[in-house]
Amino acid sequence: MSDVNRQWLLRARPVGMVKESDFERAETPIPSPGPGEVLVRNTHLAFEPAMRGWMEDRPSYIPPVGIGEVMRGMTVGEVVESNLDGFAPGDRVSGMIGWQEYGLGDAGLTKLPPGVEAPLAMSVLAITGLTAYFGMLDLGEPKAGQTVVVSGAAGATGSVAGQIAKIHGCRVVGIAGGADKCSWLTKEAHFDAAIDYKSEDVGARLSELCPDGIHVYFDNVGGEILNEVLARIAQKARVVLCGAISGYNLEETQPGPANYFNLVIQRGRMEGFIVLDYVSRFAEATEKLLGWVQDGSIAWQADVQKGFENAPKTFLRLFEGANTGKQLLEF
Ligand SMILES: NC(=O)c1ccc[n+]([C@@H]2O[C@H](COP(=O)([O-])OP(=O)(O)OC[C@H]3O[C@@H](n4cnc5c(N)ncnc54)[C@H](OP(=O)(O)O)[C@@H]3O)[C@@H](O)[C@H]2O)c1
Repeated sequence: MSDVNRQWLLRARPVGMVKESDFERAETPIPSPGPGEVLVRNTHLAFEPAMRGWMEDRPSYIPPVGIGEVMRGMTVGEVVESNLDGFAPGDRVSGMIGWQEYGLGDAGLTKLPPGVEAPLAMSVLAITGLTAYFGMLDLGEPKAGQTVVVSGAAGATGSVAGQIAKIHGCRVVGIAGGADKCSWLTKEAHFDAAIDYKSEDVGARLSELCPDGIHVYFDNVGGEILNEVLARIAQKARVVLCGAISGYNLEETQPGPANYFNLVIQRGRMEGFIVLDYVSRFAEATEKLLGWVQDGSIAWQADVQKGFENAPKTFLRLFEGANTGKQLLEF
Protein backbone atom coordinates (compact mmCIF):
# COMPACT_ATOMS: atom_id res chain seq x y z
CA MET A 1 0.00 0.00 0.00
CA SER A 2 1.38 3.45 -0.94
CA ASP A 3 1.66 5.97 1.92
CA VAL A 4 0.07 8.80 -0.08
CA ASN A 5 -3.59 9.74 0.11
CA ARG A 6 -4.84 11.34 -3.12
CA GLN A 7 -7.68 13.81 -2.59
CA TRP A 8 -9.93 16.20 -4.51
CA LEU A 9 -10.48 19.52 -2.70
CA LEU A 10 -12.95 22.31 -3.39
CA ARG A 11 -10.86 25.06 -4.97
CA ALA A 12 -13.46 27.70 -5.88
CA ARG A 13 -17.16 28.39 -5.45
CA PRO A 14 -18.74 27.77 -8.87
CA VAL A 15 -20.30 30.57 -10.85
CA GLY A 16 -22.85 29.31 -13.36
CA MET A 17 -22.02 25.86 -14.75
CA VAL A 18 -19.70 23.96 -12.41
CA LYS A 19 -16.23 23.44 -13.92
CA GLU A 20 -13.39 20.96 -13.45
CA SER A 21 -11.23 23.90 -12.36
CA ASP A 22 -13.52 24.44 -9.34
CA PHE A 23 -11.66 21.44 -7.84
CA GLU A 24 -7.96 20.78 -7.18
CA ARG A 25 -5.85 17.73 -6.48
CA ALA A 26 -3.89 17.25 -3.23
CA GLU A 27 -1.69 14.55 -1.73
CA THR A 28 -1.43 14.04 2.03
CA PRO A 29 -0.16 11.24 4.28
CA ILE A 30 -2.63 8.41 4.87
CA PRO A 31 -4.23 9.08 8.28
CA SER A 32 -4.02 6.65 11.22
CA PRO A 33 -7.21 5.58 12.95
CA GLY A 34 -7.65 6.70 16.56
CA PRO A 35 -9.70 4.87 19.20
CA GLY A 36 -13.17 3.99 17.84
CA GLU A 37 -12.08 4.67 14.25
CA VAL A 38 -11.29 2.65 11.14
CA LEU A 39 -9.13 3.44 8.12
CA VAL A 40 -11.03 2.85 4.87
CA ARG A 41 -9.55 2.51 1.38
CA ASN A 42 -12.26 3.78 -0.94
CA THR A 43 -13.02 1.84 -4.11
CA HIS A 44 -16.12 3.74 -5.35
CA LEU A 45 -17.45 7.30 -5.12
CA ALA A 46 -21.10 8.32 -5.72
CA PHE A 47 -22.11 11.64 -7.28
CA GLU A 48 -25.27 13.64 -6.48
CA PRO A 49 -26.57 16.77 -8.26
CA ALA A 50 -26.94 18.22 -4.75
CA MET A 51 -23.14 18.47 -4.54
CA ARG A 52 -23.45 21.54 -6.78
CA GLY A 53 -25.40 23.20 -3.93
CA TRP A 54 -22.90 22.04 -1.26
CA MET A 55 -20.20 23.98 -3.15
CA GLU A 56 -22.05 27.27 -2.58
CA ASP A 57 -21.77 29.36 0.58
CA ARG A 58 -25.44 29.88 1.37
CA PRO A 59 -27.85 28.60 4.02
CA SER A 60 -29.10 25.11 3.20
CA TYR A 61 -30.04 21.81 4.86
CA ILE A 62 -26.33 20.96 5.25
CA PRO A 63 -23.29 23.26 5.73
CA PRO A 64 -21.30 24.18 2.61
CA VAL A 65 -18.00 22.44 1.86
CA GLY A 66 -15.22 24.89 2.78
CA ILE A 67 -12.68 26.09 0.23
CA GLY A 68 -9.63 23.81 0.51
CA GLU A 69 -11.62 21.02 2.16
CA VAL A 70 -12.00 17.51 0.77
CA MET A 71 -15.15 17.47 -1.37
CA ARG A 72 -18.00 15.72 0.46
CA GLY A 73 -19.35 12.48 -1.01
CA MET A 74 -20.52 8.99 -0.24
CA THR A 75 -18.05 6.19 -0.85
CA VAL A 76 -17.81 2.44 -0.62
CA GLY A 77 -14.51 0.94 0.40
CA GLU A 78 -12.67 -1.68 2.35
CA VAL A 79 -11.58 -1.46 5.98
CA VAL A 80 -7.77 -1.53 6.08
CA GLU A 81 -7.17 -1.02 9.82
CA SER A 82 -9.71 -1.06 12.65
CA ASN A 83 -9.91 0.26 16.21
CA LEU A 84 -13.69 -0.07 16.19
CA ASP A 85 -15.56 -3.03 17.66
CA GLY A 86 -17.51 -4.96 15.04
CA PHE A 87 -15.35 -3.81 12.08
CA ALA A 88 -12.39 -5.84 10.79
CA PRO A 89 -9.90 -5.44 7.92
CA GLY A 90 -11.54 -6.59 4.70
CA ASP A 91 -15.07 -5.49 5.67
CA ARG A 92 -16.89 -3.65 2.83
CA VAL A 93 -18.41 -0.43 4.17
CA SER A 94 -20.15 2.72 2.95
CA GLY A 95 -20.01 6.20 4.46
CA MET A 96 -19.46 9.90 3.78
CA ILE A 97 -15.68 9.70 3.47
CA GLY A 98 -15.44 12.12 0.56
CA TRP A 99 -13.50 12.48 -2.68
CA GLN A 100 -10.31 10.77 -1.48
CA GLU A 101 -8.64 7.37 -1.67
CA TYR A 102 -8.33 6.86 2.07
CA GLY A 103 -10.29 8.24 5.01
CA LEU A 104 -11.30 7.62 8.59
CA GLY A 105 -14.72 6.38 9.60
CA ASP A 106 -16.49 5.61 12.85
CA ALA A 107 -19.62 3.85 14.04
CA GLY A 108 -21.60 5.85 11.45
CA LEU A 109 -20.26 3.53 8.72
CA THR A 110 -22.63 0.93 7.27
CA LYS A 111 -21.55 -2.57 6.28
CA LEU A 112 -22.70 -3.65 2.82
CA PRO A 113 -25.42 -6.32 3.00
CA PRO A 114 -24.04 -9.79 2.21
CA GLY A 115 -23.85 -10.46 -1.53
CA VAL A 116 -24.56 -6.82 -2.47
CA GLU A 117 -21.92 -5.14 -4.66
CA ALA A 118 -21.02 -1.43 -4.62
CA PRO A 119 -23.21 -0.29 -7.60
CA LEU A 120 -26.43 -1.58 -6.03
CA ALA A 121 -25.42 -0.55 -2.51
CA MET A 122 -24.77 3.01 -3.80
CA SER A 123 -27.89 3.42 -5.95
CA VAL A 124 -31.25 1.77 -5.27
CA LEU A 125 -30.19 0.93 -1.68
CA ALA A 126 -28.64 4.35 -0.99
CA ILE A 127 -29.68 8.01 -1.06
CA THR A 128 -31.29 8.05 -4.52
CA GLY A 129 -33.39 4.91 -3.97
CA LEU A 130 -34.40 6.07 -0.49
CA THR A 131 -35.34 9.48 -1.89
CA ALA A 132 -37.56 7.83 -4.48
CA TYR A 133 -39.15 5.63 -1.81
CA PHE A 134 -40.07 8.34 0.71
CA GLY A 135 -40.86 11.03 -1.87
CA MET A 136 -43.17 8.80 -3.87
CA LEU A 137 -44.87 6.95 -1.00
CA ASP A 138 -45.02 9.51 1.82
CA LEU A 139 -45.62 12.64 -0.25
CA GLY A 140 -46.97 11.28 -3.54
CA GLU A 141 -49.37 8.77 -1.96
CA PRO A 142 -49.94 6.91 -5.26
CA LYS A 143 -53.25 5.05 -5.57
CA ALA A 144 -54.00 2.21 -8.00
CA GLY A 145 -55.36 3.47 -11.30
CA GLN A 146 -53.96 6.99 -10.91
CA THR A 147 -51.65 8.68 -13.40
CA VAL A 148 -48.12 9.49 -12.20
CA VAL A 149 -45.58 11.60 -14.08
CA VAL A 150 -41.86 11.60 -13.20
CA SER A 151 -39.23 13.95 -14.61
CA GLY A 152 -35.54 13.06 -14.66
CA ALA A 153 -37.18 9.67 -15.12
CA ALA A 154 -34.21 7.70 -16.45
CA GLY A 155 -31.96 8.91 -13.63
CA ALA A 156 -31.10 7.15 -10.38
CA THR A 157 -33.92 8.70 -8.35
CA GLY A 158 -36.57 9.14 -11.05
CA SER A 159 -36.36 5.59 -12.40
CA VAL A 160 -36.93 4.11 -8.95
CA ALA A 161 -39.70 6.60 -8.10
CA GLY A 162 -41.62 5.69 -11.26
CA GLN A 163 -41.27 1.96 -10.67
CA ILE A 164 -42.49 2.30 -7.08
CA ALA A 165 -45.63 4.01 -8.43
CA LYS A 166 -45.98 1.17 -10.95
CA ILE A 167 -45.71 -1.40 -8.12
CA HIS A 168 -48.61 0.44 -6.49
CA GLY A 169 -50.82 0.00 -9.57
CA CYS A 170 -50.43 3.41 -11.23
CA ARG A 171 -50.02 4.35 -14.88
CA VAL A 172 -46.59 5.94 -15.09
CA VAL A 173 -45.26 8.41 -17.64
CA GLY A 174 -41.58 9.36 -17.57
CA ILE A 175 -39.92 12.47 -18.99
CA ALA A 176 -36.25 12.08 -19.96
CA GLY A 177 -33.66 13.41 -22.39
CA GLY A 178 -33.10 11.37 -25.53
CA ALA A 179 -34.50 8.35 -27.37
CA ASP A 180 -32.23 5.81 -25.66
CA LYS A 181 -33.28 6.85 -22.17
CA CYS A 182 -36.96 6.84 -23.19
CA SER A 183 -36.62 3.41 -24.74
CA TRP A 184 -35.00 2.04 -21.54
CA LEU A 185 -37.92 3.43 -19.52
CA THR A 186 -40.63 1.63 -21.49
CA LYS A 187 -38.70 -1.52 -22.41
CA GLU A 188 -36.79 -2.23 -19.19
CA ALA A 189 -38.08 -0.04 -16.38
CA HIS A 190 -41.80 -0.85 -16.54
CA PHE A 191 -42.93 2.73 -17.43
CA ASP A 192 -46.12 2.90 -19.53
CA ALA A 193 -44.91 5.79 -21.69
CA ALA A 194 -41.99 8.17 -22.00
CA ILE A 195 -41.59 11.70 -23.33
CA ASP A 196 -38.28 12.88 -24.77
CA TYR A 197 -38.18 16.49 -23.60
CA LYS A 198 -35.26 17.23 -25.91
CA SER A 199 -37.16 16.43 -29.11
CA GLU A 200 -40.88 16.50 -28.22
CA ASP A 201 -43.41 19.14 -27.16
CA VAL A 202 -43.75 18.20 -23.48
CA GLY A 203 -47.08 19.98 -22.95
CA ALA A 204 -48.73 18.44 -26.01
CA ARG A 205 -47.47 14.95 -25.14
CA LEU A 206 -48.64 15.25 -21.52
CA SER A 207 -52.12 16.25 -22.73
CA GLU A 208 -52.15 13.24 -25.04
CA LEU A 209 -50.84 10.72 -22.48
CA CYS A 210 -52.70 12.02 -19.39
CA PRO A 211 -56.23 12.87 -20.65
CA ASP A 212 -57.73 12.65 -17.13
CA GLY A 213 -55.01 14.79 -15.57
CA ILE A 214 -51.92 14.02 -13.50
CA HIS A 215 -52.54 12.77 -9.96
CA VAL A 216 -48.91 12.63 -8.80
CA TYR A 217 -45.95 14.50 -10.22
CA PHE A 218 -42.48 13.56 -8.92
CA ASP A 219 -40.33 16.52 -9.93
CA ASN A 220 -36.57 16.22 -10.30
CA VAL A 221 -36.01 19.09 -12.71
CA GLY A 222 -38.20 22.14 -11.97
CA GLY A 223 -38.34 24.95 -14.54
CA GLU A 224 -40.53 24.77 -17.64
CA ILE A 225 -41.38 21.06 -17.27
CA LEU A 226 -42.83 21.69 -13.79
CA ASN A 227 -44.88 24.51 -15.29
CA GLU A 228 -46.25 22.29 -18.07
CA VAL A 229 -47.24 19.61 -15.54
CA LEU A 230 -48.97 22.13 -13.24
CA ALA A 231 -51.21 23.12 -16.15
CA ARG A 232 -52.44 19.50 -16.35
CA ILE A 233 -52.89 18.31 -12.75
CA ALA A 234 -55.99 16.39 -11.67
CA GLN A 235 -58.09 17.31 -8.63
CA LYS A 236 -56.27 16.76 -5.32
CA ALA A 237 -52.98 16.22 -7.18
CA ARG A 238 -49.75 15.80 -5.21
CA VAL A 239 -46.70 17.57 -6.66
CA VAL A 240 -43.58 16.17 -4.98
CA LEU A 241 -40.65 18.59 -5.13
CA CYS A 242 -37.59 16.34 -5.03
CA GLY A 243 -35.12 18.45 -7.02
CA ALA A 244 -34.83 21.15 -9.67
CA ILE A 245 -31.67 20.29 -11.59
CA SER A 246 -32.57 22.57 -14.52
CA GLY A 247 -31.74 25.51 -12.26
CA TYR A 248 -28.68 24.28 -10.30
CA ASN A 249 -26.13 25.88 -12.63
CA LEU A 250 -28.01 29.09 -13.43
CA GLU A 251 -26.55 32.36 -12.20
CA GLU A 252 -30.00 33.89 -11.70
CA THR A 253 -32.80 32.25 -9.69
CA GLN A 254 -35.55 30.92 -11.96
CA PRO A 255 -38.96 32.60 -11.73
CA GLY A 256 -41.72 30.59 -9.99
CA PRO A 257 -44.00 28.48 -12.19
CA ALA A 258 -46.61 30.68 -13.90
CA ASN A 259 -49.22 27.89 -13.69
CA TYR A 260 -49.02 27.52 -9.89
CA PHE A 261 -52.57 28.87 -9.47
CA ASN A 262 -53.88 25.62 -10.94
CA LEU A 263 -53.04 24.11 -7.51
CA VAL A 264 -55.83 26.29 -6.12
CA ILE A 265 -58.32 25.42 -8.84
CA GLN A 266 -57.57 21.68 -8.54
CA ARG A 267 -57.18 21.74 -4.71
CA GLY A 268 -53.68 20.32 -5.22
CA ARG A 269 -50.66 20.17 -2.95
CA MET A 270 -47.01 20.89 -3.75
CA GLU A 271 -44.47 19.85 -1.12
CA GLY A 272 -40.71 19.58 -0.88
CA PHE A 273 -38.68 17.16 1.25
CA ILE A 274 -35.13 16.17 2.14
CA VAL A 275 -34.46 12.45 2.43
CA LEU A 276 -32.20 12.94 5.48
CA ASP A 277 -35.35 13.59 7.54
CA TYR A 278 -36.22 9.90 7.12
CA VAL A 279 -33.00 8.38 8.53
CA SER A 280 -34.91 6.52 11.26
CA ARG A 281 -36.86 4.64 8.54
CA PHE A 282 -33.94 3.87 6.17
CA ALA A 283 -33.74 0.21 7.28
CA GLU A 284 -37.44 -0.37 6.50
CA ALA A 285 -37.07 1.21 3.05
CA THR A 286 -33.82 -0.59 2.19
CA GLU A 287 -35.41 -3.96 2.91
CA LYS A 288 -38.39 -3.16 0.66
CA LEU A 289 -36.19 -1.80 -2.14
CA LEU A 290 -33.89 -4.85 -2.06
CA GLY A 291 -36.94 -7.12 -2.25
CA TRP A 292 -38.24 -5.25 -5.33
CA VAL A 293 -34.84 -5.47 -7.03
CA GLN A 294 -34.62 -9.20 -6.28
CA ASP A 295 -38.13 -9.97 -7.57
CA GLY A 296 -37.57 -7.93 -10.75
CA SER A 297 -40.07 -5.13 -9.97
CA ILE A 298 -37.29 -2.53 -10.03
CA ALA A 299 -34.83 -2.37 -12.94
CA TRP A 300 -31.79 -0.18 -12.29
CA GLN A 301 -28.62 1.05 -13.93
CA ALA A 302 -25.31 2.31 -12.62
CA ASP A 303 -22.92 4.29 -14.78
CA VAL A 304 -19.48 3.34 -13.44
CA GLN A 305 -16.67 5.53 -14.76
CA LYS A 306 -13.05 4.66 -13.94
CA GLY A 307 -10.02 6.45 -12.45
CA PHE A 308 -9.62 8.63 -9.37
CA GLU A 309 -8.23 11.45 -11.53
CA ASN A 310 -11.59 11.66 -13.35
CA ALA A 311 -13.72 12.68 -10.33
CA PRO A 312 -14.65 16.25 -11.41
CA LYS A 313 -15.22 15.17 -15.03
CA THR A 314 -17.50 12.37 -13.81
CA PHE A 315 -19.48 14.78 -11.60
CA LEU A 316 -20.13 17.04 -14.61
CA ARG A 317 -21.79 14.14 -16.45
CA LEU A 318 -24.88 14.62 -14.25
CA PHE A 319 -25.45 18.09 -15.69
CA GLU A 320 -24.72 17.00 -19.26
CA GLY A 321 -27.29 14.18 -18.99
CA ALA A 322 -24.45 11.82 -19.96
CA ASN A 323 -25.12 9.42 -17.07
CA THR A 324 -27.21 6.32 -17.59
CA GLY A 325 -28.46 5.62 -14.08
CA LYS A 326 -26.56 6.23 -10.86
CA GLN A 327 -23.31 8.08 -11.53
CA LEU A 328 -20.39 6.33 -9.85
CA LEU A 329 -16.61 6.37 -10.15
CA GLU A 330 -14.44 3.32 -9.47
CA PHE A 331 -10.92 4.24 -8.28
N1 LIG B 1 -34.85 15.94 -1.96
C1 LIG B 1 -33.87 15.08 -1.70
O1 LIG B 1 -33.64 14.67 -0.55
C2 LIG B 1 -33.03 14.56 -2.85
C3 LIG B 1 -32.10 13.50 -2.66
C4 LIG B 1 -31.40 13.01 -3.76
C5 LIG B 1 -31.58 13.59 -5.03
N2 LIG B 1 -32.46 14.64 -5.15
C6 LIG B 1 -32.68 15.27 -6.46
O2 LIG B 1 -33.14 14.27 -7.36
C7 LIG B 1 -32.81 14.66 -8.70
C8 LIG B 1 -32.15 13.49 -9.40
O3 LIG B 1 -30.91 13.20 -8.79
P1 LIG B 1 -30.10 11.87 -9.16
O4 LIG B 1 -28.98 11.76 -8.20
O5 LIG B 1 -31.04 10.75 -9.29
O6 LIG B 1 -29.47 12.23 -10.59
P2 LIG B 1 -29.81 11.57 -11.99
O7 LIG B 1 -31.26 11.77 -12.25
O8 LIG B 1 -29.27 10.17 -12.02
O9 LIG B 1 -28.91 12.43 -12.98
C9 LIG B 1 -29.26 13.75 -13.26
C10 LIG B 1 -30.12 13.81 -14.55
O10 LIG B 1 -30.75 15.08 -14.60
C11 LIG B 1 -31.06 15.38 -15.93
N3 LIG B 1 -30.73 16.79 -16.22
C12 LIG B 1 -29.53 17.39 -16.16
N4 LIG B 1 -29.63 18.69 -16.48
C13 LIG B 1 -30.94 18.91 -16.77
C14 LIG B 1 -31.69 20.04 -17.17
N5 LIG B 1 -31.10 21.24 -17.35
N6 LIG B 1 -33.02 19.90 -17.38
C15 LIG B 1 -33.63 18.72 -17.20
N7 LIG B 1 -32.98 17.59 -16.81
C16 LIG B 1 -31.65 17.70 -16.60
C17 LIG B 1 -30.23 14.46 -16.82
O11 LIG B 1 -31.12 13.51 -17.40
P3 LIG B 1 -31.70 13.74 -18.90
O12 LIG B 1 -30.69 13.12 -19.79
O13 LIG B 1 -33.00 13.02 -18.82
O14 LIG B 1 -31.82 15.21 -19.08
C18 LIG B 1 -29.31 13.77 -15.83
O15 LIG B 1 -29.00 12.46 -16.22
C19 LIG B 1 -31.93 15.90 -8.57
O16 LIG B 1 -32.73 17.05 -8.76
C20 LIG B 1 -31.44 15.84 -7.14
O17 LIG B 1 -31.06 17.08 -6.64
C21 LIG B 1 -33.18 15.12 -4.09
